Amino acid sequence: MVSSPSAVGREVALREAWHPVTYAAAVTDAPVATDLLGERLVVWRDSTRTAHVHSDLCIHRGTALSLGRVEGDALVCPYHAWRYASSGACVAIPQLADPTRVPAKARIASYRCQERYGLIWVALDEPRWELPELPELERDGWTVVACGPYAWRADSSRQVENFTDFGHFPWVHPGLLGDPERPVVPEHTVRTEGHVLHYEIVRPEAPSSDDFPVFANEETDLPERRSRYELHLPYTIALRLGWGGEEGMVYLFASQPVGHERSIGYVLIGRNYNLDQPDSVLQSFEDVIFEQDRMRAQGLAA
Ligand code: FES
Ligand SMILES: [Fe+2]
Repeated sequence: MVSSPSAVGREVALREAWHPVTYAAAVTDAPVATDLLGERLVVWRDSTRTAHVHSDLCIHRGTALSLGRVEGDALVCPYHAWRYASSGACVAIPQLADPTRVPAKARIASYRCQERYGLIWVALDEPRWELPELPELERDGWTVVACGPYAWRADSSRQVENFTDFGHFPWVHPGLLGDPERPVVPEHTVRTEGHVLHYEIVRPEAPSSDDFPVFANEETDLPERRSRYELHLPYTIALRLGWGGEEGMVYLFASQPVGHERSIGYVLIGRNYNLDQPDSVLQSFEDVIFEQDRMRAQGLAA
């Protein structure tokens, strides 16, 4: 049986890295379930709105805590209402005469998490590297649009590979990202710095389409786009686009390795132009692009 690369033998390394597990805005007052590297997780916010991530498994009878509720600074199980603090320690068992006399071993696993760029990031073990720096996404004069998330029946390595693959643009996204009359992949060199691959291309692209006026192309018949990529191991890409002028666009693409042949892609797009354009224009554009990609990458007819 053929397995995707990250399904076998690389879980340890993958546990030592930050991965996105949800858009931060999706975590409001109720706990949220998500999966990372085959582990079921629950994400919730305490009364200060700080996010916490735990194993989604009540230590009592194994119920999913994501089916429960948040009360103040406690995550409450939906079955017998055991209460857990953000440390993972159970702090109250209502069935006891003194509910606070909780055995020390009554605790759930906690995982380090951080909220950045509109995402909740989790590392199951001590992460080897920091998150990439994308100051544009936090800068005045820029707006950020969140697209997706895009769930694929494919490994995260497949999503990342697809995102960096220049050769498919004219064939999978003609008129949107590429021009079938100009299919040659331009010269480019790849530089490695630590855990980050850097490469840059100036590539032919389609003129901005009337349906999706999202890029800042020059008004020419043969527009070009400068694309600077940073691929941060394992599954995060920072991509900066320019057209020779002041206009800039930055993509943060990060894929959540959900489990065997399952991934979820998050796309945050910052730009310093079209500031008043409704988010739905970029979101619809990326929905089309990612659906075109998903069909090919999964190898499915539909
Ligand atoms: S299963 Fe959670 S409190 Fe009983
Ligand atoms: Fe694509």
